[in-house]
Amino acid sequence: MSFPILTPEEAADLFYDGANCGFSGFTAPGSPKVVTQAIAKKAERLHEEGKPFKINIITGASTSDLCDGVLARANAIGKRTPYQNHPDLRKRINSHDAHYFDLHLSEAAQKLRYGFFGDLDLAIIEVSDIQPDGTAVVGTGVGNVATIAKMAKRIVIELNEKLRHALYGLHDIYLPLDPPNRGEIPIFKASDRIGSPVLKIDPSKIVGIVKSDNYEGVKPFTPLDDTTKQIGANVCTFLINELRAGRLPKSFLPLQSGVGNVANAVLYGLADAKEIPPFEMYTEVIQDAVIELMKQGRCKFGSTCSLTVSNEVEDEVISNIDFFKQHLVLRPSEISNSPEVIRRLGVIAMNTALEADIFGNINSTHVTGTRMMNGIGGSGDFTRNAYVSIFSCPSITKEGKISNIVPMVSHVDHTEHSVDVIVTDQGIADLRGLDPVERAHVIIENCAHPIYRPILRDYLKLSTRGGQTPHTLEASLAFHTEFLKSGDMRNVDWARFA
Ligand code: COA
Repeated sequence: MSFPILTPEEAADLFYDGANCGFSGFTAPGSPKVVTQAIAKKAERLHEEGKPFKINIITGASTSDLCDGVLARANAIGKRTPYQNHPDLRKRINSHDAHYFDLHLSEAAQKLRYGFFGDLDLAIIEVSDIQPDGTAVVGTGVGNVATIAKMAKRIVIELNEKLRHALYGLHDIYLPLDPPNRGEIPIFKASDRIGSPVLKIDPSKIVGIVKSDNYEGVKPFTPLDDTTKQIGANVCTFLINELRAGRLPKSFLPLQSGVGNVANAVLYGLADAKEIPPFEMYTEVIQDAVIELMKQGRCKFGSTCSLTVSNEVEDEVISNIDFFKQHLVLRPSEISNSPEVIRRLGVIAMNTALEADIFGNINSTHVTGTRMMNGIGGSGDFTRNAYVSIFSCPSITKEGKISNIVPMVSHVDHTEHSVDVIVTDQGIADLRGLDPVERAHVIIENCAHPIYRPILRDYLKLSTRGGQTPHTLEASLAFHTEFLKSGDMRNVDWARFA
């Protein structure tokens, strides 16, 4: 069977108000880039005519400006899951124009298969190659593509000619059976391959191919500064101390690293931490820093769901693809983030917090408890199941107007029960084996910024009314209410709660 070639506009015509749609990819890589722009234009046209048009979208994770960005600006997104990070979509979510439910990324595919989100009417799947029988090599971000291909009634293919013929052998596509028939996911080391290098798509569901020739459009990172460099160095110090104390095997354990500027800085720190032996990664995104670490021989192997690298680095990977195929495997997110595999391998999880509280709870998603930033992503998959779980963040933000260490987080993504270590530019708080009050002391003294330490100590003194976790409930969110009132958490005044 050969598939018709469609224009982006012809493909966009298939999409209708209220359609449930699945998109391939994970972050910008592998996400649709062309049809989505035509869908956005169609939405704008229909909205001008006073007609409703919004589609519901399930992806692997965040996408790019060519997908979430254009669709959000056109107000064309009804429901959205499981993760996003685009400023325009963020605005739509926080103003309730788009209904977003963020999910643990390992769970999105199985929930779709279980039927929890209804039928999947349409899909857009980016491939780097496709045969007439529907055998495809997908792009550089896998996400939930295997499940989306299985569940979608009709599929539009975006053939990315930029990647053509380069990627065969990079992927390991594996779809587990669902309960009660699920067996083990037989990955015993990061480099194990258990599936297929290709995705088998039912050719009868493919309505046509749209050609694209687009870079992924990964947003560049903020350059490292003294704060992020210090956080990276502190994480490395913690890991080295664990090795010296024999709490980590000498051969080391696979690393997971979260998303964002802080995570990128931590990875760059590993380049210089030569006491840490060359290591493997079992993670969901590989950023620029890891490619550099691979070239240096510091990172021996990376199992990931996506190559979330800048255009420049992507070019380098494609030009040296034979080298990178020996050091990388791209898996679906339910495998890259599988709690079963993470726990078996003993993954060291390193994620980023917006804020941490003095008892060890983490907020990764909601600014002042209300405004969605990105979503939980895979941080919960890794944190809960890790060998050791580390959270990092700066001690202060916005020139000190915000303390990232607060009395009580304004939203909880990861509880004190799952968080082993908190690291800021100030130092390391090792929370293992400590009760809540012991944790509070170590977090305040080691991680809070010196300008906030006396204020946080005073909060603890205020909270002497007992209880294992000594909060003063009426004052516990005063950092946040003060920030909303005066724009500076330093102005908090405990006297009114005494
Ligand atoms: N209150 C308000 N704003 C805050 C804040 C706080 N406590 N902490 C940080 N911010 C702001 C920063 O000022 C910055 O804003 P700007 O863009 O206006 O400069 C923004 O949040 C991002 O902060 P930054 O320090 O650059 O962090 P980052 O790029 O490393 O991202 C997270 C941090 C938490 C947003 C990001 O890691 C994330 O979304 N995590 C959740 C998902 C996840 O962990 N996925 C990985 C799983 S594998």
